[in-house]
Amino acid sequence: MALHPDVQAKMYQNVKDVLGDRLPEYSDFAELHYIQAVFEEILRMYPPGYSIPKWVAEPTEIGGYNIGPQMAMYIDVRSLHMNPKHWDQPLEFRPERFVKGNREKIHSHAFLPFSDGKIIVNKWTYCLGPRSCIGRRFAMVEAVCILTMIVQKYTIVPAKPGITEEELVEAKLALTLTPKNPVNLVFKKRV
Ligand code: HEM
Repeated sequence: MALHPDVQAKMYQNVKDVLGDRLPEYSDFAELHYIQAVFEEILRMYPPGYSIPKWVAEPTEIGGYNIGPQMAMYIDVRSLHMNPKHWDQPLEFRPERFVKGNREKIHSHAFLPFSDGKIIVNKWTYCLGPRSCIGRRFAMVEAVCILTMIVQKYTIVPAKPGITEEELVEAKLALTLTPKNPVNLVFKKRV
């Protein structure tokens, strides 16, 4: 966000249109669609759950490989979210992918930050199984609320002018995907 003032301007417009100057409430969530799109794009590029373990319940075959029962399989979420087969210019931060009209075109198994692809149970269709994040809705509402309150009051810029995205948010693999270095930002109060 800090590297994309144009995105912050659109976020601010969405917040202004929906809330004016009042604080967000739960019932505003659906209308804060651009804020949702920004958060989903952040989850696409930097999914905290970058690797999701699954156990194979019964023998199957995927892409020519025989998969035995009780094997551990890991969904590589970050690679999936960067796959050019599903994402145009995947390295670019583009919240527009998730706005109404574009969101519906995303393959239901190409975006799995909460591990919740559609479950279609028949023998011709791959599915991800019933397990997924039970906190999804809570996390989305909380993040949209926080982002809304931030853009209402502040614009954000990197502390070091001219810094690239790779330098600012280089990620490292820990229990979750996390920034390698402190992310130094300046919050400028809107006047
Ligand atoms: C951006 C925030 C979050 C992300 C990206 C996220 C992502 C995930 C992922 C990828 C899983 C693994 C699902 C699977 O095994 O297939 C998971 C599981 C889980 N999450 Fe979240 N989560 C988030 C926030 C939350 C919050 C706020 C809560 C609780 C309030 C929560 C509660 C849980 C629980 C209890 C599970 C285990 C579900 C199970 O094993 O049946 N998560 N989450």
